Amino acid sequence: MDSSVAKSKRRLEGKVAIITGGASGIGAATAKLFLQHGAKVIIADIQDQLGISLSKSLAEHCPAAANNIHYTHCDVTSEPDVKSLVDFAVSKFGNLDIMYNNAGIVGDHERLPVQDSSTKDFKRIMDVNLLGAFLGAKHAARVMVPAKRGGVILFTTSMVTMVGGMATPAYGASKHAVVGIMRELCMELGEHGIRVNCIAPGTVATPMTMEQVKVDREVVEEFFKSKAVLKDTVVKEEDIAEAAVYLSSDEGKVVSGVNLVVDGGFSSV
Ligand code: NAI
Repeated sequence: MDSSVAKSKRRLEGKVAIITGGASGIGAATAKLFLQHGAKVIIADIQDQLGISLSKSLAEHCPAAANNIHYTHCDVTSEPDVKSLVDFAVSKFGNLDIMYNNAGIVGDHERLPVQDSSTKDFKRIMDVNLLGAFLGAKHAARVMVPAKRGGVILFTTSMVTMVGGMATPAYGASKHAVVGIMRELCMELGEHGIRVNCIAPGTVATPMTMEQVKVDREVVEEFFKSKAVLKDTVVKEEDIAEAAVYLSSDEGKVVSGVNLVVDGGFSSV
C-alpha cells in the first residue's frame, strides 16, 4: 500500500484530516488514500470494532505511516462527541486541516411509500445526514478560523441532489440541505482561507447500498454500468476518495462552493 503513491507525488503530506463515517465504504477508502498521500488521519465512526480493525490493518500495511492513523468513536449527532473529536485531532496532531463530513444513513432498509413513512425515520435521517454535517463543520471552523492556516471542509452529498427517484424524500432533503450549508459556509469562511465543498457520488456498492438492494454486488454494478454515460463505468469508493484528495489538496486550491458530481455521467441524462 505504501508504495502506491510515490513520495514526490503525495498531495496531502503532513495534513491533518478527520473523516466521519470512516469505518466503512467511501470513508474507509478515503482514509486509505489520504494516508497514502501523506495525511494524518482520524477515522471517526460509531462502528468501533470496524473502525479499530480498519486503522490496525492500514497501519500494518503501511508501517511508515502507522502513527498517522487513528480511530475515534464519534456519533455525529452528538455535539459533545463532535467537539471532542475535533479537540482530539488538534491535541494528537497539532491542528486540523481537513474535515470530511461523510457519515450518513439512508434510513429504512425497505423504501416505503411516502404515506407509510415515519416521522421518526425522517428525523433520524436529518439528525445524521444534516445535523451531523453541520456539527462537523461548526467545530472544524471553531479551530480552523483562529488557527489562521486555512483549511478544507468537505461533505458527502449524493447524486440525489441532481436527479429524483433515487432515494427517500428525507434522504433527498437532507442532502439538498447539506448543499445549502456548504454554500453558506463557502461565503462565510472564504475570508479565512477555508474552502468548503461537497462530493455528490453516484451509487457505489458500499454496505449502505447493499443493505438496501439486497442483491449481489455484481448485479448492482451491472445495473449502473448499463445506465452510465461513460461506457462500462462503475463508480467505486476509490473514485470518491480521489475526488476528496483533489478537493483537499493544493490542486483544488481555487475550488470552493462546488457540489462535485462523481457518478459516471448518470445524472446528466
Ligand atoms: P457506509 O454505510 O459504508 O458508510 C457510512 C458510515 O457512516 C458507516 O461506517 C456508519 O457506521 C457511519 N455512521 C452512520 N451513522 C453515524 C453516526 N451517527 N455517527 C458517525 N458515523 C455514522 O455507506 P457509504 O456508502 O460509504 O456512505 C458514505 C456517505 O456517502 C454517506 O453520507 C452517504 O449518504 C453517501 N452516499 C453514498 C452513496 C452510495 O451509493 N453508497 C451514494 C451517494 C452518497
